Amino acid sequence: MNISIKNLAVFTSGGDSPGMNAAIRAVTRTALSKGIRVFGIYSGYKGMIEGNFIELQSSDVGNILQRGGTILKTTRSEEFRTEAGMQKAYENLKKHGIDAVVAIGGDGTFTGADIFSNKFNIPFVGLPGTIDNDLNGTDFTIGYDTAVNTVVEAVDKIRDTAASHDRLFLVEVMGRDAGFIALRAGISVGAEAILVPEEETHIQELIDLLKAGWKRKKTSSVVIVAEGDDAGGVFKIVERVKAEVPEYDTRVTVLGHIQRGGSPSSADRVLASRLGFAAVEALVNGDNRVAIGIVNNKVRLTPFSQAIKHNDTLNHSLLDLAKVLAF
Ligand code: F6P
Repeated sequence: MNISIKNLAVFTSGGDSPGMNAAIRAVTRTALSKGIRVFGIYSGYKGMIEGNFIELQSSDVGNILQRGGTILKTTRSEEFRTEAGMQKAYENLKKHGIDAVVAIGGDGTFTGADIFSNKFNIPFVGLPGTIDNDLNGTDFTIGYDTAVNTVVEAVDKIRDTAASHDRLFLVEVMGRDAGFIALRAGISVGAEAILVPEEETHIQELIDLLKAGWKRKKTSSVVIVAEGDDAGGVFKIVERVKAEVPEYDTRVTVLGHIQRGGSPSSADRVLASRLGFAAVEALVNGDNRVAIGIVNNKVRLTPFSQAIKHNDTLNHSLLDLAKVLAF
């Protein structure tokens, strides 16, 4: 069923991720090609509440495809969780005649969109924009590939120091409570161990592995630790490692927000472009309260409620592979 959309809004929310701008561009230009006016909302739900809207023309989204961050800015809004906040947001959407919305963000963004759209009867679709890759209904989220490549580039450099000084590095990577960045980056850099929240971490096993490596004349090693790992964080882990594997000169590196920035990879640019295009198509087709993803190279729509389900979709067999290859 095709529905008539006159004014579409697009916004980014939650943590920024490389490729968000490519998605804004794709949504804007696809909508304009269908004769739909487009409004960008600044600073996510906060801007929706404060009425911070700007009409976007094709030229406004020129030269942003390659830029990290988000030209529309982003926030995590507490006020949007309240009745009063949502009411204000609704009034601002009405004021601008908005009859469809594209939300770009992660699970907090989708949760807000689901509740709001249900309550006020305005169609919303979501684009998965997060480096964490922790959403269902898509093989990859926008920004994940770039973030992994950033980690790989950084750890390759750390390896030089590790090898030159015969050191052990524990490198903490982002991912909130998921280990997708850690796993993929860990395999890419040939990490000696990868610690993820999805598997219980036994520090003794790590210590045994590091000691065994030392005995085999592995004079330098890299361990990737996901920030959400259950062992209490990289600084707690390093205390035990330093105490029990004194053979190594051990250092910690927390990569932090370097992982969120930077020019999106080609994979993220293409993903964001495809998803942005598909989002507008979905809204025109009458779809609502769905996340747009790509699974096995095909566009897939997943209800918000399913997309944000926190089930473990990490490919655990890749952890086994990493163990064998790092021996
Ligand atoms: O969701 C993206 C993410 O970068 C997570 O990996 C991390 O846990 C969190 O955001 C950090 O958030 P903030 O930038 O608000 O400190």
